[in-house]
Amino acid sequence: MEFGWKLFLFLSFLNAVIEAIDLKIATDRAVQIVSDKYLSIAIDTGIIRHNWERLNFSSPKVESLARALSPCYLRVGGSEADFMKFSPDTHNVRFYNQSDLYMSDYYDNKFVNFTMFSNQFDELNNFVTKVGWSLIFDLNSLLREGGQWLPDNAKLLMDYTSQKGYKITGWELGNEPNSYKHHIGYSISGSQRAKDYSKLHSLLNQYPQWRNSVIIGPSTTQLSKTSAEKYFTEFLQTGGPDIVTNPTFHQYYINGREATIDQFMDIDILNSLMPEINKGNKIAKHPPYGKTWLGETGSAYGGGAPGLSNTYVAGFM
Ligand SMILES: *[C@@H]1O[C@H](CO)[C@@H](O)[C@H](O)[C@H]1NC(C)=O
Ligand SMILES: *[C@@H]1O[C@H](CO)[C@@H](O)[C@H](O)[C@H]1NC(C)=O
Ligand SMILES: *[C@@H]1O[C@H](CO)[C@@H](O)[C@H](O)[C@H]1NC(C)=O
Repeated sequence: MEFGWKLFLFLSFLNAVIEAIDLKIATDRAVQIVSDKYLSIAIDTGIIRHNWERLNFSSPKVESLARALSPCYLRVGGSEADFMKFSPDTHNVRFYNQSDLYMSDYYDNKFVNFTMFSNQFDELNNFVTKVGWSLIFDLNSLLREGGQWLPDNAKLLMDYTSQKGYKITGWELGNEPNSYKHHIGYSISGSQRAKDYSKLHSLLNQYPQWRNSVIIGPSTTQLSKTSAEKYFTEFLQTGGPDIVTNPTFHQYYINGREATIDQFMDIDILNSLMPEINKGNKIAKHPPYGKTWLGETGSAYGGGAPGLSNTYVAGFM
């Protein structure tokens, strides 16, 4: 009885404050038309170091879920792409084990170089082929000599891919180069990164199947900052619309390590993506540039906020 009273009082209160609202949805015209691959995904290259940690390619459940997302792009890239070398050798790597030194990401607070063996690359390609995903692969841009990108290892990977007949939809070179000073201790300018991309173009031109492939970059992060905006602009102005099919930048709302539930519902935080998109579109005008993409995004950086990024509340972001 008492419960009933409370409910009644609550409903009367609602009646007092909420007036009837007429909501009309115009279905005769679309505000935006997005690609059928609009909802796409990214997997961090670091997961290859951990031998596809927790991603079980032979699980029927994973396969069904993945197939339902198709058509989509899978971008395999991230900070650790710049520390990965391909080897055509095979190596029987066990599942991820934190105490295995050769699988650890950092030494002395710096990323450690690692090898992607051909069998690990095979697993990825067999999976995307099976579920109908289009793969975009991020190449190591820190293999350099005399200030220039060295394409030898990329060529080795492309030769292998070509020989195996794997269909790779797109390519990328490096990751978040505007943060290199912080991550690796030296910088590569936006105009130099444009030259690196021209070299990638020349390489892809040697393979008929990739002459018109998707090329994304420069994957700058935090476009809200003036320095990132400058980097993005310099890259595009040096390279022009020919070096990338889709200019990319990365966006995260907050730091996953400090995130709170209130931040996930904070209107100012939720609104912070729009100005970044507007800025990106203003710098990389479409046309002549291809449409700008969010090359990597999520609710919170640093692997997400445990107990929040993987729950309902993250849906608002
Ligand atoms: C991956 O999935 C297969 C099929 O369900 C299962 O047999 C296997 O044990 C799984 N592997 C791991 C490491 O969980
Ligand atoms: C992980 O590696 C350590 C050191 O090689 C070993 O002692 C441990 O048993 C391994 N754990 C698993 C689950 O394989
Ligand atoms: C990782 O590889 C890069 C490129 O070859 C090299 O410059 C760098 O010194 C390597 N880092 C370590 C810690 O070996």
